[in-house]
Amino acid sequence: MPDLANSRVIVTGGSAGLGLAMVEALAERGADVTAIARNDTKFGAARDAGARTIAGDATDAELINRIVADIDPDVLILNAGARAPIAEIDQQDWAGFSAVWNTDVKATLIGVQAALRTPMRPGARAPIMSSGAAMVMSHPAIDPSNLSMSGGYIGAKRMIWFMAHQANAVSRGRKLAISFQVLVPSQLIAGTELGRSVAATCAQVEGLGVDEYVLKRYDSHLLPSQIGRQVAELLAEPRYETGVAYGFRDSVDIMPLDQ
Ligand SMILES: NC(=O)c1ccc[n+]([C@@H]2O[C@H](COP(=O)([O-])OP(=O)(O)OC[C@H]3O[C@@H](n4cnc5c(N)ncnc54)[C@H](OP(=O)(O)O)[C@@H]3O)[C@@H](O)[C@H]2O)c1
Repeated sequence: MPDLANSRVIVTGGSAGLGLAMVEALAERGADVTAIARNDTKFGAARDAGARTIAGDATDAELINRIVADIDPDVLILNAGARAPIAEIDQQDWAGFSAVWNTDVKATLIGVQAALRTPMRPGARAPIMSSGAAMVMSHPAIDPSNLSMSGGYIGAKRMIWFMAHQANAVSRGRKLAISFQVLVPSQLIAGTELGRSVAATCAQVEGLGVDEYVLKRYDSHLLPSQIGRQVAELLAEPRYETGVAYGFRDSVDIMPLDQ
């Protein structure tokens, strides 16, 4: 399926988990992929998939500006995310509570600014990784009490969604034709380090095993490779060019959430 053959794609957090799954799926479709993550020793799988790799922090504005200017990408995927503690609010300290803000939200701000200020080429896209948790209280199926140990995570991931709208407004106003989109995995994905640690903590609270917990809560497993394939499809199919947010679930087509 080499239908992204002429696309240059950057993936932050591309050495592991969902980022690596996207790197692999995009490379399989022929994209020229660059993965960014902090730890240079963990790039083996990304390199095996054919990606170029850059060791660095997605919250480093100078680095991200330079990479975006040098590579001139068609797609900038802002996926890097922190592993935040899962605990009730009176068991959280500020460092843990704000971890997702200091990584995910800060890296989104820096990536969005690099995209707008460089600017990326007309027609370019910048998908940003949010979470189904960000839909709590805007979607009747998500009970806020289910997310009571999430600390700063839900608000941070919702903020990222708002930032995509803010960035689209700037892009429209300046006629840049850069499209900021929000990726919304709508199940916990226990096949990544981050997802596994969240699932393990929640499972322990309920006295369940990890698989048992995930199946009780979501009825099925959503695999990183499914996210990778669906994001590649999102980028390859013209019908997904214009929407702002898209959801991903097991056994369901890509779900337009916010057009
Ligand atoms: N797993 C889930 O259930 C789930 C569900 C919804 C949304 N998400 C979101 O999906 C994204 C990826 O999650 P994941 O589960 O794949 O996590 P993961 O397995 O922990 O992988 C995180 C990746 O991001 C990199 N990274 C972390 N901080 C970074 C930084 N400051 N700069 C550059 N790279 C950084 C890590 O490499 P280094 O540590 O070497 O930098 C690693 O490559 C996150 O934004 C997360 O919130 C995950």
